[in-house]
Order: sequence, then structure tokens, then C-alpha cells
Amino acid sequence: MSLSEETMFLFIVSFYLTLAIVQTGPVVDSSYVAAVYEHNLILNPEPRVPLSRPAALQHMQKNLDIYEEQAARAAQQGAQILVFPEDGLQGFNFSRSSISGYLETIPDPQQESWNPCTEPDKYNNTEVLQRLSCMARRYNLYLVANMADLQPCPLKTDPSSCPPDGRWQFNTNVVFSSDGLLVARYHKQNLYFEESFDTPPKAEIITFETPFAGRFGLMICFDILFHDPTVALVERGVRQLIFPTAWMNALPLLDSVQFQRAFSLGANVTLLAANLRNDRMNMTGSGIYTPFSATYHHAQRGDPEEGRLLVARVPVLDPLWAGQSVATEEGVVMAESTSSTATDSGVCHQESCFVSPRPETASSVPLSSSTFISSMMCDPFTFVLLNETVGEVNVCNGTFCCHLQYRQLPQGSSKELYALGAFAGTHTVNGRYALQVCAIVRCAGLDVSSCGQEVEEAESKMDFLLEGKFGTRYVYPSVLASKMVLEQPEHLEKAADGRVTMKHSNMTGGLVTACLYGRMYHLDSE
Ligand SMILES: *[C@@H]1O[C@H](CO)[C@@H](O)[C@H](O)[C@H]1NC(C)=O
Ligand SMILES: *[C@@H]1O[C@H](CO)[C@@H](O)[C@H](O)[C@H]1NC(C)=O
Ligand SMILES: *[C@@H]1O[C@H](CO)[C@@H](O)[C@H](O)[C@H]1NC(C)=O
Ligand SMILES: *[C@@H]1O[C@H](CO)[C@@H](O)[C@H](O)[C@H]1NC(C)=O
Ligand SMILES: *[C@@H]1O[C@H](CO)[C@@H](O)[C@H](O)[C@H]1NC(C)=O
Ligand SMILES: *[C@@H]1O[C@H](CO)[C@@H](O)[C@H](O)[C@H]1NC(C)=O
Ligand SMILES: *[C@@H]1O[C@H](CO)[C@@H](O)[C@H](O)[C@H]1NC(C)=O
Repeated sequence: MSLSEETMFLFIVSFYLTLAIVQTGPVVDSSYVAAVYEHNLILNPEPRVPLSRPAALQHMQKNLDIYEEQAARAAQQGAQILVFPEDGLQGFNFSRSSISGYLETIPDPQQESWNPCTEPDKYNNTEVLQRLSCMARRYNLYLVANMADLQPCPLKTDPSSCPPDGRWQFNTNVVFSSDGLLVARYHKQNLYFEESFDTPPKAEIITFETPFAGRFGLMICFDILFHDPTVALVERGVRQLIFPTAWMNALPLLDSVQFQRAFSLGANVTLLAANLRNDRMNMTGSGIYTPFSATYHHAQRGDPEEGRLLVARVPVLDPLWAGQSVATEEGVVMAESTSSTATDSGVCHQESCFVSPRPETASSVPLSSSTFISSMMCDPFTFVLLNETVGEVNVCNGTFCCHLQYRQLPQGSSKELYALGAFAGTHTVNGRYALQVCAIVRCAGLDVSSCGQEVEEAESKMDFLLEGKFGTRYVYPSVLASKMVLEQPEHLEKAADGRVTMKHSNMTGGLVTACLYGRMYHLDSE
């Protein structure tokens, strides 16, 4: 579909859904127009070489020029809020010192009210903030961008959390209201190989209010996999989340749009996700997701490397929203940080480890005639093959079991191998997080050792019922069809005992992955 068809389709779909909800639901009685921009950023070719402030600004102005064009286009389509991706102005792979020229000191909007566009002289060295603020004002929309923040810190009074050079450098989301006021600032909690940035001393739970849709919560990239701030926001009743990201795709379980869709469905929230577009880094995949709809874009191999604006009308989900702003405990700062920080230089992404598999799991190890272990996303999944046209199988990892009833509808002449995998344990490669996962995957080849490897296309459709009994209520469901097409699961059910059932049929494309991705947040620190 072309963008306009896509947008039109979604306008119709969301309009229909909004009507449907008005007729049946008690709370949702309104909608708004959201936009996200997937940005093909102009990179600094030598990020490890420090730049002067004027040179760094000159670089960022090129990306800001693109933001400006897109803000104009979004406004023309009626957008009331526009989200830009993580690292979209400066790029990535800086060192702590080489990023210096890119930093601005962002005042805390909870402490003071500042409109950088109308009060440009209040602070020096804030050209980026001023330009973003004027953009929000000029196009009369709420604008969310990600940039680098420098905060001096009290080395003498707080030597434990203050870095030795006496300053914090944060990966930061800033939000401007439609008149240019700086209304929110959020510092990324869960860094992913970001040598240039610090983890904030306390996890920040930051929300802001809009006049058209109530409250939104802020997070960044790798944050989406962790309890703080993401689930902490949801548990406080925040139903609309903003997600700038620089996500490196990792099939079969953590492709960008696949997990964005899964999170929105599993948490029953709206997610406004803006990714970077960079082919060398395998970054693409952005969208506007509600529990009922998805407007998304995922570039295919060989597509021109370019940006993409997505615009969709979506229903307001804020339960507190009554068409006027509601007082909230905005911007509460929470408990000590428990983030997973790594010390290499890179970006926020999920890494495929198939290029260098861990030796003990590199090849399949037959356990019995029917189950085998193969590495998927660097974790040792226990698999069973789906070797019948119609069948029913179980596979367990310890006491965690996945159950599947399936009917395969092979298409064409190609033979494709499928397997059901189960994993219960802690993922430890490039980040540490506890999981329980049930997944149907198309194996990359016809050998069992290829099950769990990355594959983008499939021809075989499947009707299925996938079920697991999870030790968590945080289970994120997804159905990914050939060539990065998302399908909305036909039926989802969560029982009080932890059992989650996903039923699906009548697929429009071949099945790549169907997954119930359970996050055992409570076991992360064990
Ligand atoms: C990041 O910098 C390191 C060291 O200069 C380099 O080896 C690596 O290829 C860079 N990665 C990217 C994504 O630019
Ligand atoms: C900004 O910098 C100029 C020149 O260094 C200085 O005179 C001025 O006081 C500074 N303004 C603020 C608000 O810090
Ligand atoms: C999701 O939220 C809607 C209200 O927006 C509610 O009606 C529905 O029951 C929720 N679904 C689940 C599975 O919690
Ligand atoms: C991008 O994906 C391709 C195909 O999966 C992979 O071979 C390559 O290593 C990835 N690039 C990076 C930078 O990880
Ligand atoms: C499929 O595998 C099961 C064991 O998991 C075996 O009993 C059965 O005979 C196999 N069916 C076919 C058609 O190969
Ligand atoms: C899951 O399987 C792996 C690989 O066989 C095993 O090491 C691990 O102990 C199992 N997990 C549980 C919870 O039994
Ligand atoms: C799937 O397709 C069949 C045949 O077209 C139809 O009878 C059935 O109602 C469809 N099921 C769903 C859930 O849409």
C-alpha cells in the first residue's frame, strides 16, 4: 500500500473503531491524530572525533531541517502529536567526550516553566531546544524528540552517583506543547551499549498531559523490555506511551514492529513508536499501535533508504481523560535504578547472535526422538517439530510448558519446516532479563539446527491455538507473517491462573513467528 492508501485505510478503520467503541464502551468518546516519523538520519561519519559546538550544531541542523519538513507534513494531515526517534539528531557511537559538542543543558520542566522559542535568551547553548520549541509552535502540535542532555552533578556531596568528571550525560526525550513550552523531560533508564551516556541515579517515571488525549508516558528503546519505567507507567494507569527508538532488528522474536505490536496488545495500551532508518544497522520499523489497530511501516530489503511519516487517527485511551486536563502525580521519581548497563559503544538494539553462536548451543542436541535444543535469540530453546499437517504438540522447558493445536495449509511447492519452542530462563547476552516464551517459528532451513534462526519469509499458512501457563501476567503476544506483515491475533485470553491462549486462523500470508513473550520482571535481579 502507498502511504496515502495506508493512511486512508487507517483513518477509515480507526474511525469505524471509534464509532464502535462509542456505541459499546463507557469511557472512550474521542480520538486524536498521532504521527511518528521514521528518520533516515544524516550521520556524523566520525563519531569518535570530538567536534566543536558550531560543527556539532551544523550537523544537527541538517537533521532538524528534515524534522521541520516532516512537522509541516504532519501538521497538514492534522497531527496533534508528532514523535521523532532516539538518537535522531546526533546519531550514535560517540564516546563520553566526543559527544560534548552535541550536549545542551535541558532545564527541568517540573522546576520551571520555559518556552525556548519565545524566551531564547534565558539560557545559552540551547539552539536545538529553541528550534524544536519553535517547530512545535509553528505547526501547532505536541512534539517529542530525543537529544543529549548535560547536567552538572554534585561531585562533593554525591560521589557515589556522580561520575568522576562532575557531570551527567543523559539520553533524553523532550516534549514541547503546541505553543512551544517545554513540558516534559525523560532520561533513559536502560542504556544499551551507550558509552556516551549515564544511567540516571533514580528511575524516572515521566508523564505529560495534552488537551486532546489526556496523559502520555515516556520511554526510550531498550526501556520497553524492563519494568522501570515502562511497566511502572502502565501500572499507574498510563495507557498511552511514547517510544522513540534506535532498534536493531532481531528476528525471530524481537523485530521492531513485532515487539511494538506485542507490547501494545499485551499491555493493552497505545504505543507511538518512531525508529531510525539505517540499513547498515538493520534499523527500520515504526508504528502507531492501539489494542485494536496498527499503522506501521517496516522497510524491506532493497527498498530505498529513506524516512517515512505515519499518521493515524486513534481513540483516546486515557481512563482519566474527560476532555480537560486532569491533575496527576506527574513526573514522580522512583526507586533506585536497577538497569542493565553495558560498557561498549553502540546503540539501543537487540542483537542477533547467530553470527557467533555460543559454542554449547551452536548445534542441535537431540534429547529424545522428538525434542531438541536449538539457540534462538541466544537462548537455548527446547523445540518440537510440527511434522504433521494437523496435530497437537507440547513442549516443556523444566516445568514451563507450551501447548499447540495446529493445522498447516501449505502453499505452493516449497517445503517449509516449523517448530514449537519453549524457553524459561534468564536471557544473558547483551542485557539480562528473565523470560518465559512460547513460540512457533519457521525454521530457516530443513535441518532442525536451523530452527530459531532468522527468517523473513514464509509461504505456509497455519491455523493454530497456542497456549502456555505463565508465571507472570506480563505476556506479549504477536503473529508475524511473511515480509514483516503483522496480523492481529483473532482471539486472546488471559486466565487468572496465568494461562494465556492465542488463537488465530485465516492468515493473509505465510507464518514466520507466532509468539507469547512472557517477561518475568520479578526475577530480573536474581
Ligand atoms: C563504533 O565505533 C567503533 C570504534 O571506532 C567501530 O569499530 C564500530 O564499527 C562503530 N560502530 C558503528 C555502528 O558505527
Ligand atoms: C550567555 O553567554 C554570554 C557570553 O558568554 C554571557 O555574557 C551571558 O551572560 C550568558 N547568558 C546566560 C543567560 O547565561
Ligand atoms: C483493554 O482496555 C479496554 C478499555 O480501553 C478494556 O475495555 C478492555 O477490557 C481491556 N482489555 C484487557 C484484556 O484488559
Ligand atoms: C543486519 O542483518 C543481517 C542479516 O540478518 C546480518 O547479517 C548483519 O550482521 C546485521 N547487521 C548488523 C550491524 O548487525
Ligand atoms: C512426527 O513426530 C512424532 C514424534 O514426535 C512421531 O511419532 C511421528 O511418527 C512423526 N510423524 C511423521 C509423519 O513423521
Ligand atoms: C530449560 O532448558 C535448558 C536447556 O536444556 C536448561 O538448561 C534449563 O535448566 C531449563 N530451564 C528450566 C527452568 O528447567
Ligand atoms: C475463516 O475462513 C473461513 C472460510 O472462508 C470462514 O468460514 C471462517 O468464518 C473464517 N474464520 C474467521 C475467524 O474469520
